[in-house]
Amino acid sequence: MSANPAAGGLFRPGILSRFTVPHRIVMAPLTRNRAGADGVPSVLAVDYYAQRASAALIVSESTSVSASGVGYPRTPALFTDAQVEGWRVVTEAVHGRGGRIFAQLCHNGRVSHPSFHAGVLPVAPSAIAPPGQAMTTEGLQPFRVPRALTAAEVEGTVEQFAAAASRAMAAGFDGVEIHGASGFLVDQFLRDGSNRRTDRYGGSIEKRARFLLDVVEAVGERCGFDRVGVRLSPLSHVNGMFDSTPWETFAFAAATLNTAGLAYLHLMRRNDAAGTPQHFRIENLRRYYRGVLVMNGGYDRASGDEAIRTGEVDFISYGTAFLANPDLPERLRRGAPLNAPDKATFYTGGARGYLDYPALAHDTSPGG
Ligand SMILES: Cc1cc2nc3c(=O)[nH]c(=O)nc-3n(C[C@H](O)[C@H](O)[C@H](O)COP(=O)(O)O)c2cc1C
Repeated sequence: MSANPAAGGLFRPGILSRFTVPHRIVMAPLTRNRAGADGVPSVLAVDYYAQRASAALIVSESTSVSASGVGYPRTPALFTDAQVEGWRVVTEAVHGRGGRIFAQLCHNGRVSHPSFHAGVLPVAPSAIAPPGQAMTTEGLQPFRVPRALTAAEVEGTVEQFAAAASRAMAAGFDGVEIHGASGFLVDQFLRDGSNRRTDRYGGSIEKRARFLLDVVEAVGERCGFDRVGVRLSPLSHVNGMFDSTPWETFAFAAATLNTAGLAYLHLMRRNDAAGTPQHFRIENLRRYYRGVLVMNGGYDRASGDEAIRTGEVDFISYGTAFLANPDLPERLRRGAPLNAPDKATFYTGGARGYLDYPALAHDTSPGG
């Protein structure tokens, strides 16, 4: 019997991938732009992730599957041996603290700039530029119209995801999360605002989802499907994303993924354009996806607890709260105050705003 009123919620043990985990608090993927120019995670990342090893699962920051997939400065990758070796030190540190870590695998597609590709245009499903500006090493620059991938290149890109998944396993990750959210390449294929293809990767919802499903299939064959998660953001308009029938698109994706035997489906529930009316209640995708559901976006302790307690979702991922609180599960368990995130250091280099968020002072008093 537990005196903890939260025992039925966030602090109920659960099963995630091949692990029994002590609670339902996942660390959401967080890009921090502190890797080397060669895509090798910095030595600072070792401590940063190890500090957060009490998560039920850490999902790493977005990690490029190939050179053509890079779209932000100083982001890590998994296409060279040096990158694998850099990540190996991170995964060993997390495992040394008893944690579990998946690599978030991403291709940025059109959310990139020629300056990352020796002057060559970024690639995308269709030659449609996203609105706004790319974050480059020389500051913000307007997005360019990308070059549409040929069908053979699409197949090659699926293989890039599979190769990166193999490298993730070689680097000691416990699994991978396919980044299908926030307007990057997988999302660009899924939604009709960015996919005007007329071949087998575009047109109907089934064809637009083919790239995602081919990536899932190829990655699952390399790692085991129960080591693969997928992240989707059905309501997000970030990076100019739009779909004319979002409910149908994402219900199809959820229903199809339901049969894949994945570790989990990770949904971002909030629209990035704050206040934009939601077209549908994202939790209703549960009807189509019966496996482990990780929900993200704007949760605090009470709302996270409630969502788990009602069975609406299985895990909650926390982004900014985990960024600022290396010991977030312990703070939530105790109902302790949280450090506030410092936005000014989200995407800057260095240890400040990265390694210096304090953990709670260890309380050794009886009952502490
Ligand atoms: C600094 C920062 C970096 C992020 N990087 C990623 C990323 O690499 N991959 C991703 O899928 N989402 C990324 N996100 C989104 C977060 O995973 C999460 O969805 C968002 O912070 C909302 O969750 P929260 O309300 O708990 O903070 C990032 C968010 C922030 C604030």
